[in-house]
Amino acid sequence: MKYITFGQDQDQVSQVILGTMNLTQLSFQEADTFLKEALEEGINFWDTADCYADGGSEERLGEVFAANPGLREKVFLQSKCGIRNVDGVKLFDFSAEHILNAVDASLERLKTESLDCLLLHRPDVLMEPEEIADAFRILHKTGKVRNFGVSNMNPAMIRRLQKYTKYKLEANQIQMSCAFSPMFDAALHVNMQTDSGIMREGGVMEYCAENDLAVQAWSPLRYGFFDGIFLGDPKFEKLNEVLERIAGEQNVTPTAVALAWILRYPARMQAVIGTTKVSRMRESVPATEVTLDRRQWYEIYQAAGNDLP
Ligand SMILES: NC(=O)c1ccc[n+]([C@@H]2O[C@H](COP(=O)([O-])OP(=O)(O)OC[C@H]3O[C@@H](n4cnc5c(N)ncnc54)[C@H](OP(=O)(O)O)[C@@H]3O)[C@@H](O)[C@H]2O)c1
Repeated sequence: MKYITFGQDQDQVSQVILGTMNLTQLSFQEADTFLKEALEEGINFWDTADCYADGGSEERLGEVFAANPGLREKVFLQSKCGIRNVDGVKLFDFSAEHILNAVDASLERLKTESLDCLLLHRPDVLMEPEEIADAFRILHKTGKVRNFGVSNMNPAMIRRLQKYTKYKLEANQIQMSCAFSPMFDAALHVNMQTDSGIMREGGVMEYCAENDLAVQAWSPLRYGFFDGIFLGDPKFEKLNEVLERIAGEQNVTPTAVALAWILRYPARMQAVIGTTKVSRMRESVPATEVTLDRRQWYEIYQAAGNDLP
């Protein structure tokens, strides 16, 4: 496992992040075993959110922390807030009041005193950066949150938030995989009159690289917004063929190659895996040891159905 430095205290955190969105699919006992295995494998960065399984992911993590004294201190724990359902209406809420209440509720479910990082989950168009900055100041001063970041944000949003808060925004968690790569399509098709050249995210990868935000790729094995995974899917025959061939050459699995493709981007990259299976989690770890060369990277990109100008 390779590690990157992260946050104000320069923590060493794993490039593979354990995503726990589906942790409630496991019983307490299964989750206990799974999480300890993850740590054994060197995955010391765990990601959750208040809305995953309606708080259930945080609760399951909290049960495991409570049952294993000392475990919490061994991991870098990140949660998110801002996605709400109010009387049956879905909305995004970055008001200071909501952020402060949400963190208190997360800490209670997680049975911990503090989060190592808090991400604002999905852009709230009504956000007022001054009050977010106030909330961050209170959370930091009271020791409830050590670091802050964002998720699914474009550079204009991050820049606007950063202008008001003194805490460096440390991460942007965005969807990315070799079969879901609009941020690379736009970069590769600059100045082209094709749809691939449409820059939807405003140069988010370049922005994060330039400003040292860690890019945390969520759903690294999926091809669409919560669509299926491309591994083994006949719709992605060519991609699977190439991943398997390179996996054979590198003596790893196609899963590891697919993750290595993400980690190859020259920035502070992490991949947020969502499996609940120990075997699949183990397959992911060697991804950090594989450095794809340009030929392999571009071959995978094109095998996923993309073209180059
Ligand atoms: N910031 C955001 O907006 C956002 C949004 C969504 C997710 N996330 C984070 O990202 C994490 C990962 O998301 P994800 O679960 O969509 O990521 P993923 O790792 O791309 O998808 C994993 C899913 O595919 C299955 N899978 C993995 N390998 C497989 C294989 N070889 N064959 C068949 N199925 C396989 C897993 O199920 P098994 O358990 O059966 O292996 C799991 O359901 C989440 O846990 C969450 O922490 C963030």
